[in-house]
Amino acid sequence: MAILEIKNLTKTYGSGHTKVKAVDNVSLEVNEGEIVLIMGPSGSGKTTLITMAGALLKPTSGDIFLKGQDISKLSEKQLPKVRLQELGFVFQSFNLLASLTAQENVAIPLIAAGHKKSKALLKAKEALEKLSLGDRLNNLPRNLSGGEKQRVSVARALVNDPGIILADEPTANLDSKTGHEVMELLCSVGCQEKKAVVIVSHDGRLKDIANRVIWFEDGRITKIEDGKHNQMCNHIVHG
Ligand SMILES: Nc1ncnc2c1ncn2[C@@H]1O[C@H](COP(=O)(O)OP(=O)(O)OP(=O)(O)O)[C@@H](O)[C@H]1O
Ligand SMILES: [Mg+2]
Repeated sequence: MAILEIKNLTKTYGSGHTKVKAVDNVSLEVNEGEIVLIMGPSGSGKTTLITMAGALLKPTSGDIFLKGQDISKLSEKQLPKVRLQELGFVFQSFNLLASLTAQENVAIPLIAAGHKKSKALLKAKEALEKLSLGDRLNNLPRNLSGGEKQRVSVARALVNDPGIILADEPTANLDSKTGHEVMELLCSVGCQEKKAVVIVSHDGRLKDIANRVIWFEDGRITKIEDGKHNQMCNHIVHG
């Protein structure tokens, strides 16, 4: 089933002679358990596309169906609920709150969705334990390694059990080893948690976890290739 369906999506910034068509009539479907990697040169519109898919930026035209609901037509008032329940975000720079512990950071989306603080903290603990971070619950972000910070942010993205995880350059601030750990984690989010995952990246290694690699240039899809997801998935599930 298509969790995310993008239809004829266009985003234009500015007006007059400063007008930029960052995303130009793009259509794309992502199914449950599928990992799609979007690659392309700097300025080709990748972040613009994923930010619209995440309901953080309004398209100029076109539709974005999330589990069949057209989120591009929702009002600003209706959007936070969709973001909290249906979407998980992973950012290049982690975006963790510096004054909160790992556990508190992961609890935030639950508290925002109306859960009691005690229950939210318990669920956050479980989410972190699942990602082998059970011994880092009380660490502030500054006392975590880069890879651990990104794993905490993956836990935060997963904690509300959304249908789709969106990640913009999730390995860009990591060294090669921790980048690989985060990559395996995102792969298991697809093959074990059965989430749809969309990743934007310059990191070619991510092709190993993708079902499909979509090449982007000047706001358009120029090429689609198969990734090696199934191979990597077998390796993760069967060791
Ligand atoms: N808020 C904005 N206002 C005006 N123009 C913008 C804005 N954000 C992006 N752009 C322009 O839109 C185009 C696409 O930008 P975008 O950030 O989506 O590219 P990208 O593929 O993510 O690049 P990178 O790989 O460097 O992250 C670029 O020409 C950029 O300058
Ligand atoms: Mg970008």
